[in-house]
Amino acid sequence: MRTPIIAGNWKMYKTIAEATALVREMRRELNEIAGVEKVLCPPFIALSNVAELIQATSINLGAQDMYWKQEGAYTGEVSPLMLQGLCQYVIVGHSERRQYFGETDEGVNRKARAAFEHGLIPIICVGENLEQNEAGLTEEWVSGQVRAALTDLTADQVSRLVVAYEPIWAIGTGKPATGAGANSVIGLVVRGTVADLFGEETAQATRIQYGGSVKPENIADLLAEPHIDGALVGGASLESDSFIRIVQAALSAG
Ligand code: PGA
Repeated sequence: MRTPIIAGNWKMYKTIAEATALVREMRRELNEIAGVEKVLCPPFIALSNVAELIQATSINLGAQDMYWKQEGAYTGEVSPLMLQGLCQYVIVGHSERRQYFGETDEGVNRKARAAFEHGLIPIICVGENLEQNEAGLTEEWVSGQVRAALTDLTADQVSRLVVAYEPIWAIGTGKPATGAGANSVIGLVVRGTVADLFGEETAQATRIQYGGSVKPENIADLLAEPHIDGALVGGASLESDSFIRIVQAALSAG
C-alpha cells in the first residue's frame, strides 16, 4: 500500500514572518494526523525557520527547486548539498520553472539524480498544457516527460520518488481535472510509463500525486481514485484551515 502524500507548494508567497506564523498555526493539527505524509515547501529563505518549527513533528520539509551541482560559481542558485539534512524532499520540474525559467527535461533529470545523491527525494512534476490537451497529445507529452525525468535512475530510486501530475490548464485556474480524468492519466500514462521502464513492481510502489486547483472541496473525489496517491497543493496550502482539511480528507480517503 502506498502512503498518501500531501505537499504544500507555497511558491513565491510568504515572508519569513508569515511563513513561521502559518506553520505555528497548523503544525499541531497536522502533526496529529497519522497515515498521511505531510510536506511543506516554503520559499528557500524560510526553509531553516520552518525546519526548526517542525523538528519534533511528523511533518516533512521540501524545497521548491535546486540546482544539480554541489557547489560552484552559480550566482543565485541553491545546491543539493545545502538542502541535504535540512529537507527530505525537493520539487523538480514544476511547470512554472519550465515555463518561466527555461527548465528542460534534461535539467529535471539531472536534478532528480542529484537529489538522490544527496539523500533527498525528488517530487518530479509533469503535465500537459491546454493546447496539448485539446489536441489529444497528453499521453505522448506526459510519457515523454516521465521517460526523460527518470533516465539513469535505478528501480529502487524510482520506487521511492514522487511524481506530481499537474495539468497546466488546472494550475491556479480553479478548474481541476476530474478524479476520473486525473486517474486515467496517472494510471495509464504515468504509472504505465514507469511500468514499461522499470517493471510493474516498481510502478506499484511509486507514489503519484495530482496537482492543479486542489481544494478541500475536491480532494475526496480525487483521492477516491485508485492511482492518485496524494496531491501537490498550491493556493490552498497558503492557509492553515484549507491545508489541514485537505490532509484530513486524504486520511479518510486512504
Ligand atoms: P494550485 O497549484 O493548487 O494553486 O493550482 C498547484 C501547483 O502548481 O503545484
